Amino acid sequence: MTPQLSRRGFIGTGALGIAGAGLVAGKDVQTATAIPLESPLSIAEVPTPALLLDLDAFEANLERMARHLAAKKIGMRPHAKTHKCPLIARRQIDAGAIGICTAKVSEAEVMVDAGITDVLITSPVVTHDKIERVIVLAQRAPGLEIVVDQSQGVRDLAQAAKAAGVTQRVLIDLDTGTRRTGIPPGAPALALLEELLRHPTLRFDGLQAYAGHVMHVSGFEPRKARSLDSLARCLETKSLFEQAGHRVPVFTGGGTGTFDIDCDVPGMTDLQVGSYIFMDTQYRSIGDRDSDIFDTFAPSLFVLTTAISQPSDGLITVDAGFKAIANEPATPPQFLEFPELRYHYGGDEHGIVQFPDERRPLRLGDKAKLIVSHCDPTVNLYDVYYPYRNGRVEELWPVAARGRSQ
Ligand SMILES: Cc1ncc(COP(=O)(O)O)c(C=O)c1O
Repeated sequence: MTPQLSRRGFIGTGALGIAGAGLVAGKDVQTATAIPLESPLSIAEVPTPALLLDLDAFEANLERMARHLAAKKIGMRPHAKTHKCPLIARRQIDAGAIGICTAKVSEAEVMVDAGITDVLITSPVVTHDKIERVIVLAQRAPGLEIVVDQSQGVRDLAQAAKAAGVTQRVLIDLDTGTRRTGIPPGAPALALLEELLRHPTLRFDGLQAYAGHVMHVSGFEPRKARSLDSLARCLETKSLFEQAGHRVPVFTGGGTGTFDIDCDVPGMTDLQVGSYIFMDTQYRSIGDRDSDIFDTFAPSLFVLTTAISQPSDGLITVDAGFKAIANEPATPPQFLEFPELRYHYGGDEHGIVQFPDERRPLRLGDKAKLIVSHCDPTVNLYDVYYPYRNGRVEELWPVAARGRSQ
């Protein structure tokens, strides 16, 4: 399918301001394709703040997860809310993903426009405009699924599908204890299934049980206990459905924090891993099976920042603040090469870096890579990734679903 979105205006204005680096000016560059640079950039030439992607680390993460889940015979359904980039979604599918997830309808639209058609929308919709968009999208993407978690939503979706003459594929979203979305497991979920099955324009594909409150539990064993506990209640619902004579082909959930836990749970069909491709300080802080740092997956995503001012000797100011790195107060950004330096948010546009001793590894004009606090909302602050290998950037990857939160 031909990608339909373009960044003509964005490219035409030369908004990246790379003198001499030369984007392909005047071309109708699609958001689903890489934007070649006329001449490669070294990392030192990248204008800051910028979103850097270390291709070697990214590809190692991609392969590690793919190999792990293939060995466990569990499907990989990566969450594209992390990267918002069809080029990355395509890499995940090439690595064996059975499809991708998106959080929102508008993100799914971008992915379908880019030719990625097996998409699960993991948040319910209730308003008529959104339901309409789902049904329209499903006509271009037969693999499109969406979760439902209450009966009015089921009825409205069924009616819209009937009006369009299509069958809409749905999963029932269970509340795993996060209390964010989902119907309580057990009898309420069974009642919702029975309602759903009364509508021939809906096809029941299975259950979603994503335990968002568990992903960042500190320590492998406590995280494992919490995850198994929340999944157990949801798997009882699966059995309840089956005892009532209904097939449950899909039982999807899990994320990066439980990638090595949920894969061993009988009944789980696929994992919705998101952050593993990039990692961030929040995830690194939760610890691993045998380490205080969760480092099975390496950080591959960085914000490149420049030291631009030094009002006093023990501090230096960089050009990346709240508008460049999403804030997670408990786990601030960390410099990849200088772990001893302390980054503090210095407002919208600035970060203030504290030197712990007399050494001054960062000087005015220097650029340095920050591991971000939280990858998903940080990515959403940028138009493009600067992917690099051996210190060179040869093309840009559009964050095509940037701002697609509808
Ligand atoms: C429904 C759902 N599934 C999967 C994920 C992916 O989680 P992670 O980035 O922790 O791998 C998320 C992230 O918030 C999510 O909301």
